[in-house]
Amino acid sequence: MTTGHLPEYAEHLIRARRATRAFRPDPVPAHTLRAVFSLAGAAPSNSNTQPWQVEVVSGAARDRLGAALVAAHTRNDLSPDFPYREDLYQGAYQRRRQCAGERLYAAVGIGRADHAARAAYNAQSLRFYGAPHVALLFTPANAEVRIAADVGIYAQTLMLAMTAYGIASCPQGLLSFYADTIRAELGVRDRKVLLGISFGYAEESAPANTVRVARAELAETTRFHS
Ligand SMILES: Cc1cc2nc3c(=O)[nH]c(=O)nc-3n(C[C@H](O)[C@H](O)[C@H](O)COP(=O)(O)O)c2cc1C
Repeated sequence: MTTGHLPEYAEHLIRARRATRAFRPDPVPAHTLRAVFSLAGAAPSNSNTQPWQVEVVSGAARDRLGAALVAAHTRNDLSPDFPYREDLYQGAYQRRRQCAGERLYAAVGIGRADHAARAAYNAQSLRFYGAPHVALLFTPANAEVRIAADVGIYAQTLMLAMTAYGIASCPQGLLSFYADTIRAELGVRDRKVLLGISFGYAEESAPANTVRVARAELAETTRFHS
């Protein structure tokens, strides 16, 4: 590889990562897991603090965690560490959010007004969309936005590392709404849950994986000053 090819590789790598919502059952080999998570550790952070703690859950432990999350959902036992409000996204952000949701539900054959089917689909996503692995990303107990930003940067670095190794992923903020359940299942104390990332090999032909969401024009998000 020469550095001259890096822009091409970067275009390919960054655009190849997509939220994947159907997986084959075969697990990722242990040596590949180690390579991917080692590479993700190269992510930058404030003063190199690296404030992430990662629990990778597979096999029977993944089955138990998925069942516990579905049970917590059924009990409406919500315990998010990072607060969430329904009006968090406004204007263009809310429109993009709605559009992404509509694309997904249309792809999996759920109608606009079918709120029950949407709710059931989301509840089932707590079993990691069938992925054989899930990585839970924790922050220290005192974490607020600055530390959460570091862990978010780690999350994207991890997903790009996975893409490079042919591994598909889905970041799932929904999992973080059940932080107490996750801590209890994994025996983690004194840390906050930021995000879960389900991952494995994509079921390429699954309808959920045909979803493509657009991005805003550059001028909508970025200004260049000189
Ligand atoms: C922090 C974060 C939380 C997310 N939470 C969920 C989630 O709970 N469920 C889900 O299906 N997708 C979730 N997504 C995936 C987004 O919907 C997806 O990244 C976005 O629509 C852009 O699509 P793309 O990843 O395919 O480019 C999340 C993404 C991020 C970055």
